[in-house]
Amino acid sequence: MLDLLMKRRSIRKYKQEPVEAAKLEKIMQAALLSPSSRGRTPWEFVVVQNRETLKALGRCRHPQQAFLPDTPAAIVVLGDTSVTDVWVEDCSIAMTIMQMEAETLGLGSCWIQIRNRTAQGEEQMSSAFIKELLHIPEQYEVLAVLALGVPDEEKPGRDLETLQYGKIHNEVF
Ligand SMILES: Cc1cc2nc3c(=O)[nH]c(=O)nc-3n(C[C@H](O)[C@H](O)[C@H](O)COP(=O)(O)O)c2cc1C
Repeated sequence: MLDLLMKRRSIRKYKQEPVEAAKLEKIMQAALLSPSSRGRTPWEFVVVQNRETLKALGRCRHPQQAFLPDTPAAIVVLGDTSVTDVWVEDCSIAMTIMQMEAETLGLGSCWIQIRNRTAQGEEQMSSAFIKELLHIPEQYEVLAVLALGVPDEEKPGRDLETLQYGKIHNEVF
C-alpha cells in the first residue's frame, strides 16, 4: 500500500483510448466496498464515457476544467443528503478508494472538486450544473468527479525522506 501511495500522482493527460470495461468494473466494485458511516452507503456513481457528455462536463467548473473533455471516463460521485449528514466524508472515502484501485490497475486519475465550486460563467453552482446535465434527483449533492484513463504523462513518485513529518505530533500538539 505504501508503495502504491508513493507512486500515485494526479494525472490530467490521458491516452485517447477507452478504459477497459473489466478495469472499470473493478474500480466500481472498489467504490462499493468503501466503508460509510453507520453503513448507510449514501453514495451513487454516474459513470460517463459519452464524448458529448464529457465535453459538457468540462463546463462544470469556473475556470473550465480543460482536460475533462479529453478524459476517456469520468465518475461523478454524489451523496444522498437525506440519509446522512456525513455524506461528504463517505463520498470522499469512495473517491480515494477508486483512485487507489485505478492506480493498482495502471490507470491515471484526478479528483475534480465540485462541492462548493461554481460552474463556467459562475452563475450556477457546479453541483447544480451537473445535476441538471445528468438528471440527478433533488436529494443528492455532487461531491466530485473522478477523471480516469490510461496515463499519457509521467510524474515522479514521492519518497519517504521528504514527507512533512513535522505535521505529526506526539501525545499533544
Ligand atoms: C479534495 C481535492 C480536490 C481536488 N480538486 C481538484 C480539481 O478541482 N482539479 C484538479 O485538477 N485537481 C484537483 N485535485 C488534485 C490535487 O490538485 C492534487 O491531488 C494535489 O495537487 C497533489 O498532487 P498529486 O495528486 O499529484 O499528489 C484535488 C484533490 C483533492 C484531494
